[in-house]
Parts: sequence; C-alpha cells; structure tokens
Amino acid sequence: MKRFCQTLLSALLLVIAVACGKETVPVDVVIVPNPVSMQAGGRGVRLSAPGSMPKIRTVIDAKLASEEYILDTRKGKVKVTAGSDAGAFWARQTLLQILAQVEKAGSNRIPGLLIQDKPTFVYRGAHLDCCRHFFSVDEVKSFIDMLALHKINVFHWHLTDDQGWRAEIKRYPRLTEVGSQRAETLVGHYGSDQYDGTPYGGFYTQDQMREIVAYAAERFITVIPEIEMPGHASAALASYPELGCRGANYPYKVQTTWGVFPEVFCAGNPETVTFLEKVLDEICDIFPSEYIHIGGDEAPRDEWEKCPKCQALMKEKGYTREAELQSYLITTVEQYLAAKGRKLIGWDEILDGGVSQSATVMSWRGAKGGIAAAKMGNDVIMTPNSHFYLDYYQTGDPEGNGEPLGIGGNLPLRKCYSFDPYDQLDESEKAHIKGIQANMWTEYVPTFDHVQHMVLPRLAALAEVAWSPDKRTEYDDFVDRIVRALLPIYDARGYAYAPYAFKDIE
Ligand code: ACM
Ligand code: ZN
Repeated sequence: MKRFCQTLLSALLLVIAVACGKETVPVDVVIVPNPVSMQAGGRGVRLSAPGSMPKIRTVIDAKLASEEYILDTRKGKVKVTAGSDAGAFWARQTLLQILAQVEKAGSNRIPGLLIQDKPTFVYRGAHLDCCRHFFSVDEVKSFIDMLALHKINVFHWHLTDDQGWRAEIKRYPRLTEVGSQRAETLVGHYGSDQYDGTPYGGFYTQDQMREIVAYAAERFITVIPEIEMPGHASAALASYPELGCRGANYPYKVQTTWGVFPEVFCAGNPETVTFLEKVLDEICDIFPSEYIHIGGDEAPRDEWEKCPKCQALMKEKGYTREAELQSYLITTVEQYLAAKGRKLIGWDEILDGGVSQSATVMSWRGAKGGIAAAKMGNDVIMTPNSHFYLDYYQTGDPEGNGEPLGIGGNLPLRKCYSFDPYDQLDESEKAHIKGIQANMWTEYVPTFDHVQHMVLPRLAALAEVAWSPDKRTEYDDFVDRIVRALLPIYDARGYAYAPYAFKDIE
C-alpha cells in the first residue's frame, strides 16, 4: 500500500511538473542501506547536467553522533550537516546513489529531500583473504572503494596463512623471501590431487601497506590486519622452522592445497612468543587500528600433545588440557597488545581454554560462539558462516546456474539479508554485539573479477543488516532498491556483480 501511494504521488508530481512546463522529472529515490528517515518536500536542486555532482555545503555539528548526517536538498542547494567528516563522507555516498537515479531518469534536478541517517553498528566490516590468492595494491584499493560505497567502515585484511605470508616484516625477512611463495596450487576441488605446477606468490611491502591504510582512512575505513596464530602457520614455519614443534630440521612447506594443517607454532618455545611480539611491533607500527586480529582459529593440538617443550610448559603452568596452551598464547599476546594500547580480536576458537573479558570474539562458526561470548560479557563481531561467508555458492544449484567453482555452501542474497544480529540475546547482552562482518575467503577465488562476483551484491545485505537493521524492508523491496540505487553505480564502475538475485534464481 505504501509503495502504491508513493508511486501515485510520483505520477501526480510528474503531471504537475509537465503541466507547469518545468524542466524537472521527479525521481522517486531509494537508498541502500535504508536510511533512518527520508522525507520528500521542497523544490530540490537543479543540476548543470543530469547526474552531475552539485556543490555541497557541509557543516560539522558535534551534537550529532560521529557518523550521523543530515542531507537536505529541499531549498535549491545540497546541504550536509554531519557529526564528523566521516558522517559527511557517508552523506556523499548517499548522494552518489541519488545522482545515479536522477541521471537514469534523464533528469537535471535532485528531488527535494530531507534524509536523516546514522548507523546502528559502529563496526561494519568486510574481510579479504589475500593469502590463498594474492590481490594487487590496486585491487585492494578497488575493494576498499566497494566498501565505501556500501558505508562499510572496517576492512579486515587477512595477511598470513598456510598458503602464503603476505606482509613484509623487516626483522624476519624470510617470511616474505620464503613464506610468500608456494611451489604450485591445487587445480579444481579439494581432493582433486591435480596441481598446476606453477609457482605462485606475492607480498605487500611496508610502504604498500601504509599506502592502503592511508587510502582507506581517506574513506573513513579502518584497516584491521590479521596475523594468524597459533595455527594456519605453515608459511611462517617454512620460513622459521625452529618455531614449530617439529623443530628446525623439519622441512615445513608453504602449502599448495587447502584445509587445516597440523603444523602450528610451538607454544612451549619462548622464541615463539618473542617472534609473535616482534612481528606485532612492526604490524602495530603500520596499522593504527585499535583492534589487531590474531586469528586463533583451526589450530589442531596434536603436535602440542607430542612436543616435549609444549608438555614441559603445561607441567610448569599446571595445565591439564592442551586447550590451555592456546589460551596461554592468546592471553600473552593480548597483554602485549594491551601494553601498546591495542585490543585483541580473534576467531571464536579463542574462547577455548578460557579467554580474558577484554578480548573481542569474531563469531564465524555460526552465531553460537558470539552468543556465548556476549553472555560471558565479551564484545562480539558477528560474522556467521551461515549468513556472511561470501565464498559460499549463491544458489541452490551452482552447476545448473553456471556459478564458478566454489568452496560449497548455499548462501543466496535473501539468506544474508535475513540475519538477526540479536538472536537469543537479552538487552544487556545485545550491547556486546559491536558489529557485523562478511568474509571473503579466496581458496576458490583466484581473480579480482571473481571476488566482485562473490561480494556483490551480497555486501549490500551486510551493509543494511549492519547500518539499518530496524529499517529493513521486505526482501523484494530490498532487491528493488539495489537495482535502482546500486546497480547503475556497479555498472558505471564496471563491477562484475553476480546476476542471480536479479533473475530470481536462488
Ligand atoms: C575461519 O573461517 N577459519 C575463520
Ligand atoms: Zn611445541
């Protein structure tokens, strides 16, 4: 009924405009993520050409929340009032969507609008795995541009893993000399036993990482680096084998296939802690983010069970379970980061063996780890694989629908959009949910075009769940808003978005 009335009103305005001989064609504007409020009224703003960027008058008003903005086009000019430069930047992203619709309608007038808007969650994140496949500095910048368009304000940069160490660390040059290169890569699906026989590698210099941090900061996006420990450590151990339980003489290698590997950092070797701390010194120097991500996921404990050094440490500390070694490493690193004024964030396995109250938990194995953590009083970022693993297929019949080879799963846009960040939580526990994030793992995503195919338009669902959960509409309306507000911009920028949701394929 509401849509019907809006359409009727637009039609009426069009008739009046034509009757008055005005140049304007009124546009019924929509926005993704849906703003807190949007009212039509006033004469709008005349443009020099359809879709051209008008002059914007910006006022910073500290009474508003820092990311809040008011966009007013009612009185012939574009006026933005914002709580900070970040709020003004988000207002500009909204304006881009309005201009795209004005241009598409062939109009040279922005309709009169008063938009008041602010995000629900302070943390709206997207992750990119640059280890399984490497993406150039320009591609990473392009990814950051996509985040900005969707008002996503955190870029979680996955920089170390079994298949490649991608961050230059000056004190440990072998991490990139050795750890950034693998001999070859698996072809086809896991278990195929076929390899391409082609060496593969790449890393970011410290200058390049600083360049990315600065590029993101200009877009009010924080970059959170991830340095994996104690698992996903094959590339680090291939570089410095003495840090593994199997010792200096073991031929660790940078992995050429996917999965979870037994090779982990030796928790009982004090040099491991020194290494991790020195690496984090350089990482903290490059990345000013409050949070530093230390991984923590998928760390098998079989080697710790057999390792004399790990067993000696357990005895010394009075531990009875290897899980306590995981907890020991994570809390040691957390205290080190805290002394540097930083906060530790890790995947939900950091809960194993006990975690300090101040650690932030990234819930990926569904929402249950996050729910448990919030109930224990820990802060949480929700990034459940059930709703926000963007490496999953986008339809129920990937082969039939021509989806490129993927890791598996079935995560259509509709499912992303249905996520309830507060499921099973009471009022005090809800306060611990600091944000939502989508993850882009790249085992089966070798090119940046393919990344775009996986993240667009599903990032739009992440954006709306994180920015405007109370303003979510019926799914069909959401898709309609993507088509009208975002697709013209995706097209103009040449983004290789996935078509399934727009063809009603699920
Ligand atoms: C993860 O997907 N292993 C965090
Ligand atoms: Zn050990």
